[in-house]
Amino acid sequence: MALLVDRIGELVTNDPTTGEGPLGLIRDAAVVVTDGRVAWVGPRTRAQPCDDVLDVGGAAVIPGFVESHSHLVFAGDRAEEFAARMAGEPYAAGGIRATLAATRHATDRDLTANLIRLADEYRRQGTTTLEVKSGYGQTVRDEERSVRIASAHTDEATLLAAHVVPPEFEGRADDYVRLVVEELIPAAAPSARWIDVFCERGAFDVDQSRAVLLAGKQAGLGVRVHANQLTAGGGVRLGVELGAASVDHCVHLTDADVAALAGSDTVATLLPSADFSTRGPYPDARRLLDAGVTVALGADCNPGTSYTTSLPLVVALAVRELRMTPAEALWSVTAGGARALRLDDVGHLGIGARADLAVLDAPSYLHLAYRPGVPLVRDVLKDGRRG
Ligand code: NIG
Ligand code: FE
Repeated sequence: MALLVDRIGELVTNDPTTGEGPLGLIRDAAVVVTDGRVAWVGPRTRAQPCDDVLDVGGAAVIPGFVESHSHLVFAGDRAEEFAARMAGEPYAAGGIRATLAATRHATDRDLTANLIRLADEYRRQGTTTLEVKSGYGQTVRDEERSVRIASAHTDEATLLAAHVVPPEFEGRADDYVRLVVEELIPAAAPSARWIDVFCERGAFDVDQSRAVLLAGKQAGLGVRVHANQLTAGGGVRLGVELGAASVDHCVHLTDADVAALAGSDTVATLLPSADFSTRGPYPDARRLLDAGVTVALGADCNPGTSYTTSLPLVVALAVRELRMTPAEALWSVTAGGARALRLDDVGHLGIGARADLAVLDAPSYLHLAYRPGVPLVRDVLKDGRRG
C-alpha cells in the first residue's frame, strides 16, 4: 500500500540531485512512501495517485532529526546542580557520580521507563533516529544492563564504558581501565554497536582512552569519543587516529585538531545545548566548516550538562550562537547526524531512504531558528508510520 504525503509547501530532501541547493529543496512537493521507504519524491503535480493520502496543507516537511549523541539510561536528576551552576559554580563533571549512584540503585524497569519517556520527547520534537549511550553504571553488571536496555530501543546503542572513574576506583583509574578492557567490554559489547570514552582531564587520559577504544574495536564496535569538551586535550586526534565515526563536543580545538579532522572521515559533533546549560564557551563551528570538516549537531540529553531532548532548540542555538546558517544547521542535525552514525538511509529523503520525516507547523524550515521555543513539529512519520 502506498502513502502520498501531499501539498508540501517546502520539502527539504537533503538530496541536491533531487532539489535545489545543498538541502535539495522542492516547493509544492509530494512524497510517495511504500514499505516504509521513499519510493518517489518531486513536484506534486507529477505525483501518481495513492490509496492513502496525508495532506499537510502547505506545511514544510524535513527529514526526521538524527540524534547521534544521547545519554538516556539513568535515574534521578540534578536540578540542584544546575541551579548552583547558574549561581556561579563551574561544571566539573563530578556530578556524574551522583547519577551513577542513582542509576546503580534503579531497577531495569525504572531505567527503561525513563528511557522511553525521553525517547518519546525526542520523537514528538521530530527525532526519528536516536543513539543512546550507557555510562552511568561503571560496573560490569550496570554497564551490561544499561547497554542492553538501550539496545532494546535502538540499533545505535553505545557502550560508554569509561565515562567517569567510579568512586570505588578513586585514584586507581588504570585499574578501572583494566576492568573495562578485560571484563566489562567482553560482557557488554554484544548489545552495543559503538564504544565511547570521556577523554578529558579528570576523566580518562589519552592512553587510557586508547586502551578502551582499541578493546572496543577488537570486540567489533565502532568508535566515538567525548573529546575536547573542557580542555584542548588529545581526544580529537585520538579519535581521528582510530578512525572514529565522530568526535563529540569539540569546544577547545587546536589548529592541529582542525587539520586532523579536515583530513579524515571523522565527523565533528557539536552539542551547543550542553554549552548553554553549563554556561561554557561554544565551539567555533565556522572554523570547522571553513576547514571542510563535516559537522553534526546533537542535543546530548543527559541529567548533568544538557537535560533537553529538543533538536529544534539545538538548531536555534547553532544559528544564533555558533553562527551556522539555518541551512547548515538543518543539514547538520539530519544528514550530519546520519554521517556521525555512518548510516546512509536516514537524514535525507532521497529515493530508497527510510520514510522518516517531520511535518512542521510552519511554511519553511527557517522557522525552526526564527521561532525558538515554539513547538513547531506537528506530525512525525517513522518508517512511513505515525506514532
Ligand atoms: O556529554 N561529558 C561527559 N558526559 C556528559 C555529561 C555527563 C553528566 O554530567 O552527567 C556530556 O556532557
Ligand atoms: Fe555526552
